[in-house]
Amino acid sequence: MARRKYVVGNWKMNGLAAALGEAEAIFAAAREHGTVDVALCPPFTLIGPMIAAAPGAAVGGQDCHSAASGAFTGSVAAPMLRDIGAVLVIVGHSERRDGCGESDADVKAKAEAALSAGLSVILCVGEPRDVRESGRAIDHVLAQVAGSLPATFDPSRLAIAYEPIWAIGTGLVPTIADVAAMHGAIRAKLAEQAGAAAAQDMRILYGGSVNAENAAELLDAGDVDGALVGGASLTAAKFVPIIAAGASL
Ligand code: 13P
Repeated sequence: MARRKYVVGNWKMNGLAAALGEAEAIFAAAREHGTVDVALCPPFTLIGPMIAAAPGAAVGGQDCHSAASGAFTGSVAAPMLRDIGAVLVIVGHSERRDGCGESDADVKAKAEAALSAGLSVILCVGEPRDVRESGRAIDHVLAQVAGSLPATFDPSRLAIAYEPIWAIGTGLVPTIADVAAMHGAIRAKLAEQAGAAAAQDMRILYGGSVNAENAAELLDAGDVDGALVGGASLTAAKFVPIIAAGASL
């Protein structure tokens, strides 16, 4: 089965109610480009309003707790995301692995909780700059995949996002050859862990300084099935061309 391109916006800690018009415009454009799957992950506070503003659109969270409920002040559980209408969640973003001390085991537990709650998952991996420069990027990322992949899963509901940390928000991107090599290595690892058929169905997204200018080339690279976009997903003017690039492939 051919994998449909998947273009996902991660709004991070950006967006007040005034930004909902951008989401409406983005999802309206997504409907025009029906060959590509599009989702937005706004802050928790905007998930409900965004679904109300764009009924039927794929809206998700940027994190969830691994427990279904309990005494975890400030956290949001996967069933709560599902309850409000979210259909997906990002887990293991480097800003949470590094900023909040999340381990591979934590990320695995979150991914399993999200799948159990009926959400789709985008599981992030990626190496820091010193690891890339020392030539150990592929080993580092494959260890993250091995350590954070859920024990069992439906491959149609789990995507991997490769986001080199040094490329996030910096304007730097790896070469197309490096992206293709990493994505190919991730797919081979997924085949080893989950079987060849599952690995063939799973989408592997690239993230890190994707913009209107570089999107087509990145999305067309070997084993790249989509993009996880930060800064350039905040406005329709910047995000719609990336959606269009995905739809044209
Ligand atoms: P930028 O697109 O702003 O580099 O962010 C990438 C990212 O971290 C998406 O999750």
